[in-house]
Amino acid sequence: MRIIVTENYDELSKKAADIVASQLILKPRSVIGFATGGTPIGMYKEIVKMYREGKFSFKDVVTFNLDEYYGLDRENPQSYYFYMMEHLFKYVDIDKNNINIPDGRAEDIEKECIEYEEKIEKAGGIDLQILGIGKNGHIGFNEPDVKFEAKTHLVRLDEDTIKANSRFFNSIEEVPTKAISMGIKTIMHTRKIVLLASGKEKAEIIEKMVNGPITPDVPASILQLHPDVTLILDREAASQLN
Ligand code: F6R
Repeated sequence: MRIIVTENYDELSKKAADIVASQLILKPRSVIGFATGGTPIGMYKEIVKMYREGKFSFKDVVTFNLDEYYGLDRENPQSYYFYMMEHLFKYVDIDKNNINIPDGRAEDIEKECIEYEEKIEKAGGIDLQILGIGKNGHIGFNEPDVKFEAKTHLVRLDEDTIKANSRFFNSIEEVPTKAISMGIKTIMHTRKIVLLASGKEKAEIIEKMVNGPITPDVPASILQLHPDVTLILDREAASQLN
């Protein structure tokens, strides 16, 4: 596990964007796994900036998002599809057919999950996966007590996660209680992983993920076994590492 500690959130965002940029420059037909949430917003801003400077194109890029809320359609401003449009896709030359985000309104969820996995496989697998981390150690929406062997599936969100994500909704009652998420197996099969964490409230879980036992209670701890993981942390998120 490579650990990069930055001074602050802006520097973290630039470092993360640089890694995505180098991936796209070196392999214009890359398959990229993206994450949502608060942490990668700065990275997306930097990616758009570099794209506008002509550093790379999204023309041949294929993307897969980690997750989507169950029950929300694409037009819902709280959906992760909407988020990705707002923060990245509407600014770049990506082919809309190459954007893959689980359909939270799919009638047959099981089929949706199986097809999502098939699409990843058909695209040749994910070259670079961006991750955030929940305070409880979740990656994607794989909550504690996770089954490490699971692929894309429907998950029930933890109370902690619902509370944390309620900051993006008008009230906590509006936060969906379920989501479709890539499983740990899907994430572990990606070639390269970059996990971003910012702020004091992530410090404890970062320490557990890096130094603690590999356990389903801390889903991100499995990343200790992945051959190519880079953590980009700001000083606060890294503050409990020694
Ligand atoms: C988002 C995702 C989640 C978030 C995590 C951290 O697609 O899968 O695992 O990365 O909840 O969220 P923030 O960045 O808002 O702290």
